[in-house]
Amino acid sequence: MCGIIGISSNKPVSANIINSLKKLEYRGYDSAGIATLSNGEINEVKSEGRVDNLENNFDLKNLKGNIGIGHVRWATHGIPNSVNAHPHSSHNVSVVHNGIIENSTILKKYLINNGHIFKSQTDTEVIVHLITENLKTSELEEAITKTLKQLHGSFALGIVFKDKPDLIIGARRGSPLAVGYGPNENYLGSDSYALKSMTNKITYLDDGEFCVVKKDQVLFFNEQGIKVNKKILELSSNEASYDKGDYKHFMAKEIEEQPTTIKTGIKEYIDNFNKEINIINFPWEIEEIKSITLIGCGTAYHSCLMAKYWLEELTTLDVNIDIASEFRYRKNRFKKDNLYVFVSQSGETADTYAALDLCNKNSMKTCAVVNVIESSIARDSNFVLPIHCGPEIGVASTKAFLGQILVLYILVLKLGFLRNEISKSKYQKKIEDLKTLPVLIEKTLQHDNDIQAISSTFNDAKGSMFLGRGFSYPIALEGALKLKELSYVHAEGYPAGEMKHGPLALIEEGIPVVVLAPRDNYYKKTISNMQEVIARGAKVLLITNKSTDEVVSENIWETIEVENTNDDLLPFLLTIPLQKLAYYSALKKGYDIDKPRNLAKSVTVE
Ligand code: M6R
Repeated sequence: MCGIIGISSNKPVSANIINSLKKLEYRGYDSAGIATLSNGEINEVKSEGRVDNLENNFDLKNLKGNIGIGHVRWATHGIPNSVNAHPHSSHNVSVVHNGIIENSTILKKYLINNGHIFKSQTDTEVIVHLITENLKTSELEEAITKTLKQLHGSFALGIVFKDKPDLIIGARRGSPLAVGYGPNENYLGSDSYALKSMTNKITYLDDGEFCVVKKDQVLFFNEQGIKVNKKILELSSNEASYDKGDYKHFMAKEIEEQPTTIKTGIKEYIDNFNKEINIINFPWEIEEIKSITLIGCGTAYHSCLMAKYWLEELTTLDVNIDIASEFRYRKNRFKKDNLYVFVSQSGETADTYAALDLCNKNSMKTCAVVNVIESSIARDSNFVLPIHCGPEIGVASTKAFLGQILVLYILVLKLGFLRNEISKSKYQKKIEDLKTLPVLIEKTLQHDNDIQAISSTFNDAKGSMFLGRGFSYPIALEGALKLKELSYVHAEGYPAGEMKHGPLALIEEGIPVVVLAPRDNYYKKTISNMQEVIARGAKVLLITNKSTDEVVSENIWETIEVENTNDDLLPFLLTIPLQKLAYYSALKKGYDIDKPRNLAKSVTVE
């Protein structure tokens, strides 16, 4: 993971580097550091923990230098402390790195034999010494090309040199990197978000490329060191949405924003006049698609699972889903008439990107469902379906999940209709129902005090379970992921019908169990499973939808009723109380809700 920034300017850069690092903290927050160049010296400052620590520990306002690099770390090699924090420097070179150098042990041995002394436990430090070693015999550009060839693994790099007071080298293999253009200064950053407050003119490096960034010039080179010309993109900027507003946490804001997320998604994809779904420029004939594979990680994988249930319910397409880190290393049977759908909020998740890359290399049909439309996954897919939910800053995915399942549901309806598997009247009815969703979500969001009160029980327990069947099963998995991610409480998502095959042994007096049992086709079966856990002492929180029929069961601890809608759309509503449950549990524990321990928003290492 990790975030990197570099600025070459005609004025001091430390304040802007700090600002950008704060934005990049969603990529890692184990440590932070800066190196600037002034008077022929490398000035390096680093601290364990957040960027705030770095600011508190050093007088950064007086950190001189019109050129500098900065880093926020998500530790891979070496514990999170100030020694392992980036930048890493030798007497003449300083480096920030995002990625993993897989042959660092071999390179380290070679460098130690050549007299290099290592200070940290990181893989990154080998890059510093390798460049220093190569500079003994080669000019700068040749030394860089040579170094990059010696490195195995993935990286985005920012490099400054003590005796080159005007340039930063950037290099990309696997991990994303962008260049930004400003007045009398130019930038290097992990993504456009880091650069947005300074510029909206961006160029993305392609894999294998490196660049030379000076305050008045940027040059790009391919792997062979040959100069290449690159396009400058103008991004729309919307700084306001990066603000917490009156909310305590981004997560709280993002949960409350969900009616708008869905409204925007509907506006983008639904043609009200013709009661039609606007998925235009679809690059394949519908007959060319016989099956679908959906791939993602974490919450995005849960979206894929949700889509599988809808696809199987509403179409006859064969559907597979896969966790990207598994897909990329399996012996896949690639099929020409299969559509591969990659689901990702950030569009930069390393495993999902690698799975996409594998499909592209096998000339497969690829489609991205992403939030960040400038991301690597969006750029390298044949076709993109944006989520349109605006920036999601909280590490725990909330509005992006609803955004993803909305777009996937819309895709399912469109495919079913085009394949004549959903009749026109049914299709238009489902579109009409979809339009009611923002209001239903708004109403469901009103469950607040009740969830706050319930949340303590989950914190006090040694574990909890989330059960669902059918359409509710992916939501049970998502609810459990949210709770463990935010409140560090063990939570297990399970298909309700599977409990008796093992996990029922975990049920004991007082264990909290969330049962998702809306009045759909699975309702009666799920209620039976609920009774089985109640009989063994579980404290059941039942989440169902409003109905005139009473739930026929005794000893339910608490019940939350979401609004009523058609079965397809109930998963959207069931998600809301689970997000709030995780939020309030973490809030009561006083944990860092937007930046849970050990995690990062954009997982750019495998
Ligand atoms: O950016 P992506 O959607 O590809 O990220 C995938 C996962 O890392 C992400 O959904 C993760 O599971 C969330 N932190 C869960 O809340």
